Amino acid sequence: MQQTLITHNENETEALGAALGRLLHAGDVLALVGDLGAGKTCLTRGVARGLGIDEPVTSPTFILVAQYSSAAGFPLYHADCYRLEQAAAEALDIGLDEMLADDGVSVVEWAERVEPLLPADHLRITLAVLDDNRRELTFEPHGPRAARLLRDMLARLPRELSIANVQLSIDNSPEIPSLPSIGH
Ligand SMILES: Nc1ncnc2c1ncn2[C@@H]1O[C@H](COP(=O)(O)OP(=O)(O)O)[C@@H](O)[C@H]1O
Ligand SMILES: [Mg+2]
Repeated sequence: MQQTLITHNENETEALGAALGRLLHAGDVLALVGDLGAGKTCLTRGVARGLGIDEPVTSPTFILVAQYSSAAGFPLYHADCYRLEQAAAEALDIGLDEMLADDGVSVVEWAERVEPLLPADHLRITLAVLDDNRRELTFEPHGPRAARLLRDMLARLPRELSIANVQLSIDNSPEIPSLPSIGH
């Protein structure tokens, strides 16, 4: 089951990340794929917020991996593989494999560059730029835990987003009721 959502601004993408972040358990891995500026870091900022992390989340492009303590007691690891040249080999050098196996939540930007290191069970999120402000996010679960995570997120989305005062257009999703127009 794959799900596509379209966001219309940065706040919507962040709200989506927060909705997902609230459901994450230790060991969960989010593999983010998409060009520069697609919104991967923005989504990660939301995930951090959903995990109760108050620290500002910036792109770890230069440091490759940032670690945050979450309110839930496990760390959030945020990796950016853009600058890895021999991606998979260098990723091993910086300990990405250990990070992914650790009892934390991992969010990996440019995850396709370290494909062989991703655990069998992960939620892949592909972000595409539709125009200046619209982004298409495709959620693709790999494995039973990721499938459950996606299902739970979709079930809670209307409520979560209305709390955040956000309206999203949701494609290919007969099971999700349309959100009321709340304006923002
Ligand atoms: N719907 C949207 N969702 C996320 N970011 C958006 C959106 N519309 C415009 N933007 C802009 O796109 C950029 C996304 O940046 P960022 O999250 O750092 O991308 P990435 O990490 O994929 O390179 C930001 O400048 C943001 O303001
Ligand atoms: Mg980024």
